[in-house]
Parts: sequence; structure tokens; C-alpha cells
Amino acid sequence: MAERTVEDAVHETLDQQGWHELRAAATEVMQRAYAPYSHYKVGAAARADDGRIVIGCNVENAAYGVVLCAECGLVSHLHATGGGRLTHFVCVNGGGEIIMPCGRCRQLLFEHGGRDLLVWTVSGVKPMSEVLPDAFGPDDLTHMADMADAAAEGTD
Ligand code: THU
Repeated sequence: MAERTVEDAVHETLDQQGWHELRAAATEVMQRAYAPYSHYKVGAAARADDGRIVIGCNVENAAYGVVLCAECGLVSHLHATGGGRLTHFVCVNGGGEIIMPCGRCRQLLFEHGGRDLLVWTVSGVKPMSEVLPDAFGPDDLTHMADMADAAAEGTD
């Protein structure tokens, strides 16, 4: 049998302690949010598939629409520290309560964690396939490219 790797271990559901650590990381980074306009601070934390924790907080802007959600910072942290895939995610408000990622950020998380990313939601831990059902994603683009290739082969 193949040896069990660190990656295998983190793909398994985090135990209660693991989720607690992730929430604590989200709550800590929430305190560094820059939210002078909405006064609504958000902190996000996730596990990557090599076991490291990545974090992000929201950063607002005088041009309100330019706001960076906490998840934007988290995804940037993921790539800035070596890339990989997200396996477990949680985000919290200024009171440390669990909140749902906004619609746009669900799409962002889907790109970097896929259907199996586990999200601690307001109604328990759920896979991304339930948080963003029937999501549009990278597979839709490769499907179209494959169709184009098949059509091109047919004309050769
Ligand atoms: N916000 C996030 O950072 N992530 C979300 O998923 C929900 C909303 C931020 C954006 C804005 O700075 C503040 O919360 C109020 O909408």
C-alpha cells in the first residue's frame, strides 16, 4: 500500500481541534481588517493541501466598489506562499461569528478548492458543491477547448 502523506491527512475532515484553530486564525486576522467605511470587519482562514494555514482580511477603499473581501487576501496569500489547493475554509465577522462568503467569493473559493473544499457555514460544515451548486468553473473552459480541438481534428 502507498505511504500515507501529509496531503492525504489534510484531505480528511479536520477534527474539532483543527477547525477550532482555523476559526481562531480567522478571528485573529479579522482584527487587522481595514474597514473604515462599512465598519464590518471580516477575517478568513483556510488550510491548503500541504497543511499550511492561509489567511486574509477585508480591505476597503474610498472608492467603495474597489473593496477587497477577506477571501481575496486569502487567495493571494495562498499563491504568494507557494500555491496549492484549499481544503478547509472559514470566515468570521467582527464578533468572531461564522459568516457565509459572499456570492463573488464563493466563486473565488471554488476556483482554488473545487467541489470538495469544506466550508464551515452558518449551518455546519458543507462541501463547496453545496455552497455553490452547479458552479461554473475551469472545467467549463476546458470542455469548450476540447470541443474545438475535436472539431478541428474532424476537418483534418
Ligand atoms: N466582506 C468580506 O470580506 N467577505 C465576504 O464574504 C462578505 C463581505 C466584506 C466586504 C466589505 O468590506 C464588508 O465585508 C461589508 O460588506
